[in-house]
Amino acid sequence: MPRRFLIRTFGCQMNRHDAEALAGLLERAGLVPTESESEADVILFETCSVRTHAEERVYSLLGRLKPVKRRRPSLLIGVIGCMAEKDREEIFRRAPHVDFAVGPGRLDEVPALIAGLAPGACSVLSGQKPSLELPSALADRREHPWSAYIAISRGCSNRCAYCVVPAVRGELVSRAPGEILAEARELVAAGAAELTLLGQDADAYGRDFCGGTGPHLADLVRSMGRLEAEGLRRLVFVTSHPRDISEDLLRAMAETPVACPYLHMPAQSGSDRILAAMRRGYTAERYRQIVAAARRIIPGAEIASDFIVGFPGETEEDFAATETLVRDMEFQQIYVFKYSPRPGTFAADQLADDVPTEVKKARNNRLLAVQRTISLRLNRAMVGKTVAVLVEGASQRDDRRLTGRTRTGRIVVFARDARTRSGQLVNVRVDSATALTLAGERA
Ligand code: 5AD
Ligand code: SF4
Repeated sequence: MPRRFLIRTFGCQMNRHDAEALAGLLERAGLVPTESESEADVILFETCSVRTHAEERVYSLLGRLKPVKRRRPSLLIGVIGCMAEKDREEIFRRAPHVDFAVGPGRLDEVPALIAGLAPGACSVLSGQKPSLELPSALADRREHPWSAYIAISRGCSNRCAYCVVPAVRGELVSRAPGEILAEARELVAAGAAELTLLGQDADAYGRDFCGGTGPHLADLVRSMGRLEAEGLRRLVFVTSHPRDISEDLLRAMAETPVACPYLHMPAQSGSDRILAAMRRGYTAERYRQIVAAARRIIPGAEIASDFIVGFPGETEEDFAATETLVRDMEFQQIYVFKYSPRPGTFAADQLADDVPTEVKKARNNRLLAVQRTISLRLNRAMVGKTVAVLVEGASQRDDRRLTGRTRTGRIVVFARDARTRSGQLVNVRVDSATALTLAGERA
């Protein structure tokens, strides 16, 4: 009887892609996937360390497995990804029933570890191997064929003061463009209408190639644009660092019909004082200029952003500058996070976490309220228009409806019918809107 595995995934798209790679590796090693915890012989947590909250959820889920492990000692429990790298042996102190912890740089060793693990032994694999293949090169099992992730780089060589990513995922390592293209071509041949290029700082792609002379992300976008002839319909990349966006990249997006006019470009704050303390390398004015350039160069460009509220030293005045930026930029969407000190980062080690939790919460809600009004206005302006939607599947709220996304990532729901399938591109006429979704009928 083959061993069955279950993976629970937390965090960003790179983590979801790592989980795909992990599933592929385990299947190659003869294990079979299951969705049922009681059937699983191996339970893996693909974890995130960006904020305390994500870690606490994993520790609490691990806690719930303690009696299960006591009843069934042969069950293997593994913590994979960023938390494994950050906490290492600490994991066994907090959750002694965990069998192993493997950081993101050693993903490819999980199957051998599982095969060779002696009962009761606790193992930690951490650190970055220069030779690690990127998850894309490992993945032969994807969530779905019609939309696929491709990792173009791993790690991040920025040092944003709050961010744990460089410590857990190492320095930027870009993947060779030929390899990325070959994989993209295979995915398109297998039915991918949409490709999402993943990098912690996607715009820094290629900076680690000899002398930083390229190729850059703009070159990659141009060459991947040629896959349109083979069936590619949408090309997206995440995440963009404002400092690293070049005009050439914006032009490449504008010139490439399959490139979606969408940027996820976190601003993090609208206050120059806080941006400097965060070590982001740009001012609010510079951020505004980049957004203006993106909108000038790419017709219909929409921008999503992330913000951290309650960073050390953030005053009411600093926060007001953030509110003003959000009001002025008219983002498609924003993600707001309460600052969470991450051990080992400059901010956690050197700056006092001096904004009270209640103030962080209030600023979080205020910023979301500003954006809600904007999103509602922008979405209502779509009523009466017809949008191209890449169908994702049944709506979670109502399985008589289907859900999908526009080219700029807006969520659209519409009535299910027998002819429409996941992965299909359809036209939907929008007849109503909320701040989060557009609703309509197939045109
Ligand atoms: N605290 C709160 N939010 C954080 N982010 C990254 N590090 C932290 C932290 N220590 C947010 C940033 C980033 C997003 C993925 O998570 O906004 O863009
Ligand atoms: Fe973290 Fe900054 Fe790198 Fe993003 S760019 S992963 S916030 S260090």
